[in-house]
Amino acid sequence: MVAITFIFLAIAKHKYYLRTVNLKSEILKRKTFAIISHPDAGKTTLTEKFLLFGGAIQTAGAVKSNKIKKAATSDFMEIEKQRGISVATSVMTFEYGGKLVNILDTPGHKDFAEDTYRTLTAVDSVILVIDCVKGVEEQTERLMEVCRMRQTPVIVFINKVDRDGRDPFDLIDELEQKLNIKVRPMSWPINGGREFKGVYKIYDKSINLFEANKTKISKDIVRIDDLTDPLLDELLDKDAEKLRQDVELIEGVYGDFKIEEYLEGREAPVFFGSALNNFGIKELLEKFLEIAPFPQARQSSERQVEPDENKFSGFIFKIHANLDPRHRDRIAFLRVCSGEFERNKFFHHVRLHKNMKFASPFTFMADSKELLEHAFAGDVVGLYDTGNFKIGDTLTEGEDFMYKGIPSFSPEIFKELINLDPMKSKQLEKGIEQLTDEGVAQLYRQEPGNRKFIGTVGELQFEVIQYRLENEYNAKCRFEPRNFYKACWMTGDADAIVEFIKFRQKNIVKDKDDNLVFLAETSWILNTAIQQNPKIEFHTTSEFKV
Ligand code: G4P
Repeated sequence: MVAITFIFLAIAKHKYYLRTVNLKSEILKRKTFAIISHPDAGKTTLTEKFLLFGGAIQTAGAVKSNKIKKAATSDFMEIEKQRGISVATSVMTFEYGGKLVNILDTPGHKDFAEDTYRTLTAVDSVILVIDCVKGVEEQTERLMEVCRMRQTPVIVFINKVDRDGRDPFDLIDELEQKLNIKVRPMSWPINGGREFKGVYKIYDKSINLFEANKTKISKDIVRIDDLTDPLLDELLDKDAEKLRQDVELIEGVYGDFKIEEYLEGREAPVFFGSALNNFGIKELLEKFLEIAPFPQARQSSERQVEPDENKFSGFIFKIHANLDPRHRDRIAFLRVCSGEFERNKFFHHVRLHKNMKFASPFTFMADSKELLEHAFAGDVVGLYDTGNFKIGDTLTEGEDFMYKGIPSFSPEIFKELINLDPMKSKQLEKGIEQLTDEGVAQLYRQEPGNRKFIGTVGELQFEVIQYRLENEYNAKCRFEPRNFYKACWMTGDADAIVEFIKFRQKNIVKDKDDNLVFLAETSWILNTAIQQNPKIEFHTTSEFKV
């Protein structure tokens, strides 16, 4: 009997060991990241080229082809098609060099910045695309702020070197100043615009010669022993000397590339290339796969969760509505953080205290969806949802914790929602509830009176809400502008808060989770409130909640 028990125990232990080894090797294979940029810098083109290298799409130089462009941006929503901008955040998965790459696409339009911020909570690193003609643009600064807040490792790709752009030294100075991060050039352009000859790869002392070509991958890579090699003069003629001087300066000023600095989000390696011409992309992809972090440990409300823990956990970072306008189905995007997600296995929905299983979870393969049986840390799983999920919801194998770091930011534009058809009040309530669960905008209610204020980062969302309420929920509304400056979540001494509310009733609302929010009209009013109420803390992100 003892012997049999012993054998069972040994088998169980061996299975546990195999599972752990399997989990570890799956995690080490994965790289989950987002490409971010100001609109038009070349994010879509770069994404396509990565997909091309990964064999996930077959047509090179396809940025002009709407078909592929659509596949690369997952153009699900009718409104998005109408406007031709990428409202959606989609996921593209492919394999390259034994690694499984998950690219999370982000909407470029600034009105959807909050969507991008949330996507950044689901990735382990970022590639930032900069247009060499335009340099660092405003939106890029804000996106980088979010990366810095989260210490996300960033690689910078300076795109469009085939165009007459800015001086590369000016560009990297600007990166350091505006983005507040140390940079380290990994490659260096030899001239630019019409005179562009190629890039010198500082990390392996080779020259990649440029040939404008949108469909072929440049093969002219010339290795040199060092920069004194006479071959350099043969290849580059008068530009050889300039390159020698530039590289000497870079090595003197920037020192060695330190991977730890990159992984801690303190230093950004910089690459130059041209996405449209397939130039410098393979090098970028390969270096990215070498240095970018695999799925990392994550902080939850209770403890740090390691990716190779045996028990599954994950969180919802995006909800996508109405793939088929005839049905009101939604897709929740789940980022797996630990263990193994399995189809048809019961998992614990922490907020609702409810166990749920998923019969048709799917994975995203460039332009199609595939049924998924298992997923590991770093993967993004699409779950059909009938209204159970909100952004930030956590699924576990039973443990009660919520993942941190999925904040709502104070909106910038506020409007009051006015119902235009009292017969359709229920539809309007349901519609606005569901749309704000998806994260389209933030909803604040005022009690008593049930007035509803909508807060967004851009005007476009109001049009999206109006359009969708009408088309999906058969409800009509209009918006009246309200002059608020910031929404501030309040915490602190209960008596002080009660007292504050008494005097500010018309500016006090509740968010969707019943947290108290103060809508301040001006920065002066907010500062005065802060000074006069030392026992109350005013927060401009909802992060404090978890
Ligand atoms: P986005 O997703 O960041 O908004 O940018 P996207 O890739 O759509 O690129 C914006 C424009 O820049 C596109 O031109 C694209 O062809 C061009 N582009 C991208 N990479 C390069 C490059 O390396 N060199 C040059 N010269 N141009 C580049 P478009 O005319 O606006 O669109 P399309 O008609 O080509 O689709």
